[in-house]
Amino acid sequence: MKLDSLINKANHLNKSYIPEDLFTIDQNENNFHKYKDVNLKPAVSIEILPYFLAMQYFAHKEGYHIIIDSGYRSYQYQQIIWDKFKEEVGEEALSLVAPPGASEHQTGLAFDIAYLKGVSLTYDDKVEETDAEVAWLRENAHLFGFILRYPLGKEHITGYKHEPWHYRFIGVPLATCLKKNGITLEEYYLDIERYKKDLSNEIPFFITELAMMAAIYYVRNSFQELNVEELLDKYQRLFPGAQIIPIIPIHKESLLKGLQALPKENLKKLASYELIAFVENYLYLGR
Ligand code: DAL
Ligand code: ZN
Repeated sequence: MKLDSLINKANHLNKSYIPEDLFTIDQNENNFHKYKDVNLKPAVSIEILPYFLAMQYFAHKEGYHIIIDSGYRSYQYQQIIWDKFKEEVGEEALSLVAPPGASEHQTGLAFDIAYLKGVSLTYDDKVEETDAEVAWLRENAHLFGFILRYPLGKEHITGYKHEPWHYRFIGVPLATCLKKNGITLEEYYLDIERYKKDLSNEIPFFITELAMMAAIYYVRNSFQELNVEELLDKYQRLFPGAQIIPIIPIHKESLLKGLQALPKENLKKLASYELIAFVENYLYLGR
């Protein structure tokens, strides 16, 4: 799947399309989702994983605990959601949920977020416009290659109501271009010649394809404190000149399982990024 693919009501995916490189990242899928399928855990294409982890890490540094609540959804699963919505809200479903084949969730490149709200220790998928997490993502997601796919005021273009929770990976240069011009992916393709020139001019942030060389998952098997400085130093010596960013995802056990289950080609692909992710074997909640 091309990272800049346009999937919408006019551009459908094949019924049988399943991303090859799905990576299960945590256990939260449908904990909150109305149309529960307990067997379905959130997965995304492994290509976007380092970018998501980096975004999650920087959001966490600002005090925002963001997770993926709903990632990849099969054609069949989207059909279930679509049918239920139609049954419940009738025609309005058209502006709330994509018909099967038209959902970006089928690409593995899009996801809905949830986060910790207030003093609660459970993730909440009631993503509201006024939440600080929403504002942070709106301002920063493009730096990691993600766009708010269905923004406020663009309903007539995207065909959907504003969804402050739905993000889509399109790569850092294109995401930055869209953000700078205040346009949606649809508008980009409608006037591609005008916007394309912006792509090469973007100054890459720290997470760009260029800045990435290797992803190393440092997995700890104990609950001891991790000496981040020591590890940064070690990897800096291993990869002189590389930008090294410690990433501490929330659901390490699942990540570990996911890594073990990965086909070798995908591990190689993952290792081609210049991002060093330290995967701690503890929850950072409450630390
Ligand atoms: N809610 C978005 C449009 C989807 O169903 O993919
Ligand atoms: Zn979504």
